[in-house]
Amino acid sequence: MARFEFAYFLAITLAMLFRVYNADAGKSVQSGQSSNATCNIDRLQTVVGLDNSASLIQKAIKDSSSNDTAAVSQLKAAANGIQSAQAGVDTILQALVTGQAPPANARQQVGDGIDAAGAALISAFGNSTTSALSADIADAQSAVAGTLAAGIRVVSDCT
Ligand SMILES: *[C@@H]1O[C@H](CO)[C@@H](O)[C@H](O)[C@H]1NC(C)=O
Ligand SMILES: *[C@@H]1O[C@H](CO)[C@@H](O)[C@H](O)[C@H]1NC(C)=O
Ligand SMILES: *[C@@H]1O[C@H](CO)[C@@H](O)[C@H](O)[C@H]1NC(C)=O
Repeated sequence: MARFEFAYFLAITLAMLFRVYNADAGKSVQSGQSSNATCNIDRLQTVVGLDNSASLIQKAIKDSSSNDTAAVSQLKAAANGIQSAQAGVDTILQALVTGQAPPANARQQVGDGIDAAGAALISAFGNSTTSALSADIADAQSAVAGTLAAGIRVVSDCT
């Protein structure tokens, strides 16, 4: 519950930061990126989606049985992918807050992290030995897929 509230607190904080950035964007010559409301919604959905994906992966690890060593190691790989994507988002956010264009390699890091998480979850699902764990992994997969879709919209909307 605390995590859930934290995600919303973070989303609101980010919304305020992005608004500050937008107010300044017209004047900022060194910024290579403009953003509109759609772009900011996409960013928030990416941030919240990453947090949600991380929580669902942890839930799957918690619900795994002693026979699920293969699946658990793949779930940990998925968690690492999400963590790397979150680090990329942090880098982008720091650039935006200081009125700079987000570094291209940070964007790449976000995309690669989400892709790695998605691939690891496919293996985890294949190695799951209980239907309860499979259901948890399916939930995590759908969160990751939604986050990936939001990330793709960031690339097309935040030009
Ligand atoms: C692990 O697998 C064995 C063999 O299939 C099974 O008998 C046992 O109940 C399983 N243990 C758990 C915790 O699911
Ligand atoms: C199970 O995990 C192994 C690696 O530990 C992987 O090579 C394999 O593809 C996984 N199985 C399925 C059905 O995904
Ligand atoms: C705002 O985002 C929409 C969403 O697709 C995009 O089509 C549009 O070009 C963007 N507008 C500006 C001014 O960047």
